[in-house]
Amino acid sequence: MISRNDLCPCGSGKKWKKCHYPNNPIVTLNQDLRQKYKKQFQVHLKTDEEIDKIRKACQLAASILDQLVQYAKVGVKLIELDTLSAQLHKKAGATPAPLGYGYPPFPRTICTSLNEVICHGIPDETVLKQGDILNIDVTSILDGYYGDCSKMVCIGAISEEKQLVVDVAKKALDASIAILKPGIPVSDIGKTIEDIAKAYPVSVVNEFVGHGVGCDFHENPQIPHHYNSVNIPLAPGMIFTIEPMINGGAKRSVVDKEDKWTARTIDGKASAQWEHTVLITETGYEILTVNG
Ligand code: MF3
Ligand code: CO
Ligand code: CO
Repeated sequence: MISRNDLCPCGSGKKWKKCHYPNNPIVTLNQDLRQKYKKQFQVHLKTDEEIDKIRKACQLAASILDQLVQYAKVGVKLIELDTLSAQLHKKAGATPAPLGYGYPPFPRTICTSLNEVICHGIPDETVLKQGDILNIDVTSILDGYYGDCSKMVCIGAISEEKQLVVDVAKKALDASIAILKPGIPVSDIGKTIEDIAKAYPVSVVNEFVGHGVGCDFHENPQIPHHYNSVNIPLAPGMIFTIEPMINGGAKRSVVDKEDKWTARTIDGKASAQWEHTVLITETGYEILTVNG
């Protein structure tokens, strides 16, 4: 006869009383949902303990991002932003996730994507000048958990064309977060973004997507920002990024032949991106990458 303190027969590794014990309807329900999402969608629904740690990583990433945004001014070199990011991560006992990530290994601690760069720009000796628009993307690992966010910085007065991509990308991100709640399909996110963007002379990048995040840098599901048919229903405990990239011209990107990372617009027109990590709750959502 199985006792309350034995391991649950479902294989969760938890005690029976904390898992499928007959008088435990809420825990049983959450446990079943977690197993269903893993099996059907390869999506990990985070536990309350994981959520607490991911929230801390996200708050740190947001705070580092805000300090970098403050520092980005005319005359500052992109590499100086990287140096400051390295210092801030070290001071917090955290690791910058981009450094050494992927192949070829990403060589810096943040991405800095300037003007026509869509994403994955590598900080270098380039000096910021009046009229530039810059995306700074920070992903921090704290206590083994990940937080991922990015913002645009406008350097002095910028052209109307640049202002438009900055504003549309921000408006699209905010609107797509506002609709989040359990039960809606992932595809509603891209629909909300593209519905907004199509009212302007801009395009929505479809070669890079948002992603599950928290226990790893890039987890399932992928979150497309354009019209799509990903019909995974959002569920409490899902944590993912939304990070729309909006181009002033064509949507196509070209990856730099030499560094294999820097993605630029095919026509040299400006591009903008904003990113948050969000948690799906029982009733809606929580933006995790806020400077708490
Ligand atoms: N932070 C980016 C994202 O939003 C990923 C950067 S990958 C890197 O997913 F290697 F370039 F850092
Ligand atoms: Co991301
Ligand atoms: Co990012």
